[in-house]
Amino acid sequence: MNEKTSTARAHTNIALMKYWGKKDAALNLPTTSSLSLTLKEFYTDTMVTEGREDTLLINNLMQDPTRVHKFLDFLRAEKGDFPPLTVVSKNVVPTSAGLASSASSFAALTAAVAHYNDWDLSLEELSRLARRGSGSATRSFFPGFAVWHEGHDDQSSFAESLPESTMPIALVVCEVAKTTKKVSSSDGMQRAMTSPDYEAWVAKSHEQFDVMQAALAANDLETVGAIAEENALAMHALNMSATDRRFTYFSQMTIDIIAFVKELRKQGFLAYATIDAGPNVKIITRQDQAEEIKEKALASFRKLKVEIATPGPGLSYIEEND
Ligand code: PMV
Repeated sequence: MNEKTSTARAHTNIALMKYWGKKDAALNLPTTSSLSLTLKEFYTDTMVTEGREDTLLINNLMQDPTRVHKFLDFLRAEKGDFPPLTVVSKNVVPTSAGLASSASSFAALTAAVAHYNDWDLSLEELSRLARRGSGSATRSFFPGFAVWHEGHDDQSSFAESLPESTMPIALVVCEVAKTTKKVSSSDGMQRAMTSPDYEAWVAKSHEQFDVMQAALAANDLETVGAIAEENALAMHALNMSATDRRFTYFSQMTIDIIAFVKELRKQGFLAYATIDAGPNVKIITRQDQAEEIKEKALASFRKLKVEIATPGPGLSYIEEND
């Protein structure tokens, strides 16, 4: 057995325009394009090395490798065979942040495996492959703002960087104390697509996409935040209006924080809410207002944990002695 290893680092991303539904579940093709911000503070380092069978360790704990094994088999079929791998992942996502790590994990894993096998792939190609592990992973290869083009087939659905932006955006990440019962994102999407309002959400998302891109180019953070909030709340309304097992990720505190964000706006802050497949709220704001909003949130909600996140870098590789 050789001792060759390869380690990649990918940062998490938060969608400002959400991916919430698949037009092809086998290929993981989304019903809409999505747009995200990569975060500096939260990332995953993944090392791969030859093993006896595909295994997975996250933060030094053995995990069920089923999903990773399935993804590695997909890579073997797509790009050529390679030996069984031991996958060792370290999530630098503060437990208090309440952020999902599947985006950064599948991006880092795809890159580590490509590097291990000396595959010479562009970031777009890595993104296309990572899509099969987790949709949101497509966007975690790129610094700052990224767009995942929905595409119409396997080749055309991948993410890429948007032009570099100097927008002073920050996210105040609020983890609520109590979590509701978890519905996986795939299951949640499937249910949401049964909402009578689903087609309207998709059509609206296409419209919002152009406005959001123009707002980014114009450094108009107010419009970026307003569209992000509208897009996210409408996504969550689909969950509540699904005809197949309607549900919500919101807890009481989620709703209270949405009201708090509205109140912040009344007080003159730039503040908009976005929420993913869980009860936590990320408040989109300006970097120079983030600290004050964090303090206000801590003062307003007991047991709330709060982190501030800012735009982060794209994919990197870590040499053994780093
Ligand atoms: O990549 P998945 O399957 O974990 O789905 C991500 C879904 C959302 O986080 C809610 C939205 C998004 O675009 O990241």
